[in-house]
Amino acid sequence: MRLNKYIARAGVCSRRKADELIANGNVKINGDVITEMGTQVEAGDSVSVNGRLIEGDTGEKIYLALNKPLGYVTTMRDEKNRLTVADLVADVPERLFPVGRLDYNTTGLLIMTNDGELTYSLTHPKHEVYKTYVASVAGVVSDKRVSQLSKGVDIGGFVTSPSKVKVLKQNPRSAVVEIKIREGKNRQVRKMFAAVGNRVQALERTAIGDLKLGRLMTGHYRKLTKQEVEYLKNL
Ligand code: URA
Repeated sequence: MRLNKYIARAGVCSRRKADELIANGNVKINGDVITEMGTQVEAGDSVSVNGRLIEGDTGEKIYLALNKPLGYVTTMRDEKNRLTVADLVADVPERLFPVGRLDYNTTGLLIMTNDGELTYSLTHPKHEVYKTYVASVAGVVSDKRVSQLSKGVDIGGFVTSPSKVKVLKQNPRSAVVEIKIREGKNRQVRKMFAAVGNRVQALERTAIGDLKLGRLMTGHYRKLTKQEVEYLKNL
């Protein structure tokens, strides 16, 4: 974004006045005086006017896929001082927000962005994108339970809509199950398994629609590709 626009958008003054300030040598980017009118401000640059740092916004939209680890809250700040997903993207200069939430003890794919429109559309209850989870559960997940989970179960005053359930592995006393749901009620997957008699021991979100977690290491993030962003916007 052009420097004069950046200064004006930060609420310092008009663009014309900003041009004067720039011409007079009152503006610095990252500590260097800038007098060139057309200079661009990039995300992460610090801009000062008359020696005072200003809070600007380059308007750049950022879209990240984060692999949320265990024991992080999906908020940008926590009054109990627990670790938050903000700590994992602290080196990104933009103010990002998580799209939806994962429980403290759920791991996996979380989108982080500063695009409010996309956040709104992806988290709207009418939104029908399948989210894929892999749940490690205690006990046996019988065919009957698979059928109950698939059709819908009562999770306490709410009957879930149809989901897609696949037992990936059945051990003598535990199982690994892939479950795709469209809704996002609080602790929904845990409650669904509890409703049929299986306790969830670990839960990971592996995909949102066709957007996959892939090999992203836990606690790490990557930028979404242009194609992935387009895909999410068109969902
Ligand atoms: N379902 C849950 O139970 N927990 C999550 O974090 C997400 C879906």
